[in-house]
Amino acid sequence: MFDELDPARIPRHIGIIMDGNGRWAKARGFERTVGHAAGEQSIFDTIDDCLELGIEWLTVYAFSTENWNRSSDEVDFLMAFNESLLVRHRDSVAEKGVRLHFVGLADDPRVPERVTERMAESERLSADNTNIHVVFAFNYGGRAEIADAARSIAEDVAAGALDPAKVDSTSISNRLYLPGMPDPELIIRTSGEQRLSNFLLWQSAYSELVFTPVLWPDFDRSALVDCLLEYQRRDRRFGGVASGEEGSG
Ligand code: IPE
Ligand code: IPE
Ligand code: MG
Repeated sequence: MFDELDPARIPRHIGIIMDGNGRWAKARGFERTVGHAAGEQSIFDTIDDCLELGIEWLTVYAFSTENWNRSSDEVDFLMAFNESLLVRHRDSVAEKGVRLHFVGLADDPRVPERVTERMAESERLSADNTNIHVVFAFNYGGRAEIADAARSIAEDVAAGALDPAKVDSTSISNRLYLPGMPDPELIIRTSGEQRLSNFLLWQSAYSELVFTPVLWPDFDRSALVDCLLEYQRRDRRFGGVASGEEGSG
């Protein structure tokens, strides 16, 4: 299946908005939370596929700063689920050389302490792994991330450590949650919705967006290959001209 892909055009970083768990469950007559549980397999199968493809970074949107608007039952489930998932996959993460990162609003009293501690532990235990970086965007919002960077700039200016005239886009990039993370070349959203919902707003400036109707629990290798094929058909211009047109007036 991977042989359909152009090995020279495999993205270095893929972001995924894992959507459609609730609809997947409802269509089967289950509670929405059953859909979240069913999505766990898709996450770890996708990590395996990315490892095989040599993709260096995978960022998955697991809980947004707006997802607090859901019922307390669903929010409680998602907190406990994301914590327990890290325990269930601890050994395989180590075995496969996966380095885990977590990005999102820190020090939020709404996030149970055991979840925060488990994330810190997972980051620590996997810190020396080098085969792939997997970033969980949890309690994450792109606007909050940019606001946090703006606050840090304001603090540096107030302390006299930064000249306001020198503030530029690099000043923001250097203050994002993971400053060393390359921008995603490709962002995939499942479930047919065509929006970013506050995911990687800064980093997605030139990302190719690929939308698939597949619901997240059904997302498999063939769905990933379809998204990558779509990506490989795109002409990435970055404000320039279409490829093959250079030099023509
Ligand atoms: C995505 O699935 C998972 C999270 C947002 C946590 P949803 O729960 O949004 O599922 P739908 O979109 O309601 O089907
Ligand atoms: C985005 O999905 C958040 C995650 C996938 C974690 P949502 O289902 O929350 O987004 P909207 O509400 O449809 O925009
Ligand atoms: Mg949704």
